[in-house]
Amino acid sequence: MRIIGIESSCDDSAVAYLDIEGDQVVRLEHVVASQIIHHQFGGVVPEVAAREHSAKMPRLLDELAQRVMGEENGPRLGKLTDLICATAGPGLATSLRVGLDTGRALAAAWSKPFYAINHIEGHVYSNWLPGLGQTTKIMNEIFPALALVVSGGHTELLLMRDHGDYELLGATLDDAAGEAFDKTAKLMGLGYPGGPKISQAGASGNSRAIDFPRPMINSNNHNFSFSGLKTAVRYFIEQNKEQLAGSDFTSDLAASVEQAIVDVLVTKTVRVAIESGVQTVLLAGGVAANRKLRESLREALAVEAPDVAFVEPELIYCTDNAAMVAMAGYWQAQRRAGDDWRKVEIDPNWELGR
Ligand code: KG4
Ligand code: ZN
Repeated sequence: MRIIGIESSCDDSAVAYLDIEGDQVVRLEHVVASQIIHHQFGGVVPEVAAREHSAKMPRLLDELAQRVMGEENGPRLGKLTDLICATAGPGLATSLRVGLDTGRALAAAWSKPFYAINHIEGHVYSNWLPGLGQTTKIMNEIFPALALVVSGGHTELLLMRDHGDYELLGATLDDAAGEAFDKTAKLMGLGYPGGPKISQAGASGNSRAIDFPRPMINSNNHNFSFSGLKTAVRYFIEQNKEQLAGSDFTSDLAASVEQAIVDVLVTKTVRVAIESGVQTVLLAGGVAANRKLRESLREALAVEAPDVAFVEPELIYCTDNAAMVAMAGYWQAQRRAGDDWRKVEIDPNWELGR
C-alpha cells in the first residue's frame, strides 16, 4: 500500500511517501521544512505560518515526487499512490487548512481515497516508523498500551486498547510540557524552540542544583500542570539576575528545569502504566526527542515495571513530520473506508479519546 502523508498543523510543512507491503516498510521518504521565521518572535505567528505553508507545499510535493520517481517521472507519482492522508486537527486553523486542502485537491485530481488524520494519533504512530535504512518496526503484539504524548501543544496519557481505540486518562490543566520548555527557555534568553536549547545549555549542569517544584507529581489523578514551574523559574531569575551572567549558573538552571519536567512526566507515566496494567508504554511528540526523558523513562520502567515494554520513536520522527501521518493513515485504512474529500473539514480542537 502506497501512501502520501501531508502535515501542516503548526509551523512545520511536511510531506511523506510510505510504501508498506506485508509487514515490511519497503520505502519511506519524507521532507520537512521548518519555519525558522518564527524564531525572531519567540513563538509561532499563525498568519505567517499559514502563508509559509502555502508557499512551500507545492515545492515539497515536487521534491518528494522526484525522490520517489526520479527527476523525469516525478509527475507520475499520482499513478503510483493508493491513498492520500492529511492532518485535519488539532492545530492552528489557518495552518491546518493548507495541508488538508492540498490533500483533498490531490485526492480529487487523482481519484484516490482520502483520510483525515488526527495529529496526536500521528505522533503515536511515529512509533511504528523504522529508522533510516531499516525496513521493519511494525508492531502488533503491544496492546493494551499507554502513550505519553508530549509536544508543544499537548501533554496527554492515552490508553490504547487497540489500533484507533483511545481513552484519555490524563492531560495538562494548563501549559504543555513542550510549552514549559519553550517558555522557560524564553525567560532565560535561550531562544526557540526551548526544548533543545535547554538540553544543550544544561548538558554540563547540575540537575539537582535548584529544587524547582514538581507540580502535581503526587496528585491522585493522572493530570499534569506546568504553569507553576514557569512562575517559579521567573521568580528565580528575577532574584538571581547578576549570577545568571555566569555560564555555570545558567547550565545548572537549565539542567534543573529539565529535571523537574522529566521527573513529573516519568513518575506519573510509570504510575499510570502500573495501575492500568498495560503491556507497553509508547513515547511520542516533540518532547520525546529529549534524551533525559527517554533514558529516565526507560530506566524507571525497567526497575518499577519490568514486564512493561518501552517503545520510543526514532529521533527524526519525534517532532512534526508527515511520515507519522502516513503511518497513522495506513492503520486507519486497515479498518475503515476513507473520508469524502468533498465534505471533510479541519477540526482545530479535535480531541482523541475523550
Ligand atoms: O510535536 P512538535 O514538533 O509540535 C507540536 O505538535 O507541538 O513539538 C514541538 C515541541 C516544542 O515545544 C519543542 O520545544 C519540543 O517539542 N522539543 C523538545 C526537544 N525537541 C523538541 N523538548 C525537549 N527536548 C527536546 N530535545
Ligand atoms: Zn506535533
